[in-house]
Amino acid sequence: MAIQWFPGHMHVARKQVAETMAKVDVVIEIVDARLPWSSSNPMIEHMRLARQRPALKILNKSDLADPRLSAVWLDWFKSQPGVDAMLLGEENKAAGVAKLSTLCSKLAPHRTGEVKPLRALILGIPNVGKSTLMNHLARRRIANVADTPGVTKSQQRIELQNGMILYDTPGLMWPKVHDENSGYRLAMAGSIGTNAYDQIDVAWFAIETLRERYPQALLDRFGLKEYVGETEDVFAAIAKRRGAVLSGGRIDEQKAAEMILTEFRSGALGRITLETPDDITEPPDESALEETQDDAAESGS
Ligand code: G4P
Repeated sequence: MAIQWFPGHMHVARKQVAETMAKVDVVIEIVDARLPWSSSNPMIEHMRLARQRPALKILNKSDLADPRLSAVWLDWFKSQPGVDAMLLGEENKAAGVAKLSTLCSKLAPHRTGEVKPLRALILGIPNVGKSTLMNHLARRRIANVADTPGVTKSQQRIELQNGMILYDTPGLMWPKVHDENSGYRLAMAGSIGTNAYDQIDVAWFAIETLRERYPQALLDRFGLKEYVGETEDVFAAIAKRRGAVLSGGRIDEQKAAEMILTEFRSGALGRITLETPDDITEPPDESALEETQDDAAESGS
């Protein structure tokens, strides 16, 4: 699937992130608990490893994800060197915020207190829930340090009650989605603007994925007794059940696709995770990360 999702300003954002990463102790990456791998930014991971920074991975929207697979993903992330991970969902945002500070302190035990406050960079792809988390964190802040030298206005710096300093960045994407299924999962979860992909194509992918991984959830939600035929037949059956039909009896494919995707995203089909660690594919090749390496060279690391 072709996705156009790397607008020009992302190059500026990427440069800012590279510069900020040089001066922080911990990188906090928010990923989507329904697709923890596909929503992880390989560009960030590359920069982080080059800088040898520890990471806290926050699996957000865990209230929408399959709890059994969330446990599997937590273990997987924690098994990576220099990485800790936690779940965050609608129901535990407040407690999660407190936990976040504790886990960051454990990742950088040499940075504590007022003299050497812990500095963290927080990032995540658009729509992953970063603003929501930042709002919770901001309630605990004691100061809003606006324009820090060397940091553009699009980057915020906030100081939390415990002295921890958080650098916030705009939602950051990477140049190209390498794995086609990852692209589809990102689109399915609503992480990519609707102009960048074909919704009918993604709705078909959704049906195929759900039929394979959560067959009963799809049947129950759309009132189907059983699966009959191929993906297009199931798509048509769902469209008819929901009245997405044009005059003359033709399926209103666009309406049906939007409905399927909206209902999945809202959690109406239940708690669903679209991938497991077994779905992890090869990381992007060197060419996709060249710019990141240039940044490291420019700033002398
Ligand atoms: P961003 O800054 O990373 O772009 O994301 P933001 O906080 O704006 O959150 C994107 C959407 O995700 C928001 O929904 C927000 O309420 C929702 N969200 C954030 N955290 C959680 C969570 O833990 N669980 C669930 N279920 N949802 C969460 P929205 O305002 O309805 O926007 P949209 O989904 O219509 O785009």
